[in-house]
Amino acid sequence: ILKSSLSTSTARSAIKNVTIIGGGLMGSGIAQVAAQTGHNVTLVELNADILKKAEASIGNNLGRVAKKMFKDNPSEGEKFVAEAKKRVKGCTDTKEAVQDADLVIEAIVEKMEIKHKLFKTLDEQAPQKTIFASNTSSLSIGEIASVTGRKDRFGGLHFFNPVPVMKLLEVVRIPETSDETFNAMMAWGKAVGKTCVTCKDTPGFIVNRLLVPYIAEAIRMVERGDATPRDIDIAMKLGAGYPMGPIELADYVGHDTSNSIMQGWFKKYPENPLFKPNDSVEKLVKEGKLGVKTGEGFYNYKK
Ligand code: NAI
Repeated sequence: ILKSSLSTSTARSAIKNVTIIGGGLMGSGIAQVAAQTGHNVTLVELNADILKKAEASIGNNLGRVAKKMFKDNPSEGEKFVAEAKKRVKGCTDTKEAVQDADLVIEAIVEKMEIKHKLFKTLDEQAPQKTIFASNTSSLSIGEIASVTGRKDRFGGLHFFNPVPVMKLLEVVRIPETSDETFNAMMAWGKAVGKTCVTCKDTPGFIVNRLLVPYIAEAIRMVERGDATPRDIDIAMKLGAGYPMGPIELADYVGHDTSNSIMQGWFKKYPENPLFKPNDSVEKLVKEGKLGVKTGEGFYNYKK
């Protein structure tokens, strides 16, 4: 009886307590959407200073959401912010942070060895029932999960930046992911207001698998002198209806990020020409011209 009460249909409400490891750009966004949809959130960071910054940014962003949601009722808005903030607990100790976790989402640096070290520890510290997920953009979920003894309770939950704004969530299953885990992840994604799509554990999942080579191909056009960045961007906006052109998008994402994704994939799949890193991007990275965030990339953003 107990077993059947844990079936997939009740998994919908199974995830109440969510622990997020890493409170950077993505982790604080995930913490925010989970808190504002009524989940209890524990946010883990390396130290109290970083944690404070993450909590402050969550508070600011919640304020922005409340302003929009409660335009005509500021006091309701304040209540919404206060309640959501109350649901986020900061923590610097993973053992304490995972004790009551139904779901742990990892959003730390994109380095396999560091993710392995973390998940090995978490696997020892978390209760049996806890589902583990990674928000990785480009690493293999199966490889990350390989250091744990709970591959059936492991999957990918890939959010998009900025998390509170972007509606999509890619839910990734590895061959070992159980139906119960998968259904619980899908139901939770819906509960935090996202539209979920699913795919196998394949490089870049759906969005980045198509987007990263597309950007690289646009940059190869620039490298060959086929067209200028500006003309390529105008062409894709007006001709394909994209909100941003590929070169603008590359500057926005950051050349360090996209270059390290390409290098990782090219190392793993050297036979695939779509994954070949761009020489001009490697040059920009060496020069510290990483895009919008440094004031220069293919375009100049300095006044
Ligand atoms: P970030 O650098 O903004 O944040 C990472 C945070 O993790 C930092 O605040 C760092 O102090 C913390 N951290 C590192 N090691 C830790 C540990 N052992 N325990 C606790 N905290 C730790 O990085 P970002 O951009 O938020 O990316 C995080 C993950 O999300 C990466 O795997 C990335 O591939 C993925 N991702 C990033 C997207 C983006 O647009 N930036 C989009 C989707 C996924």
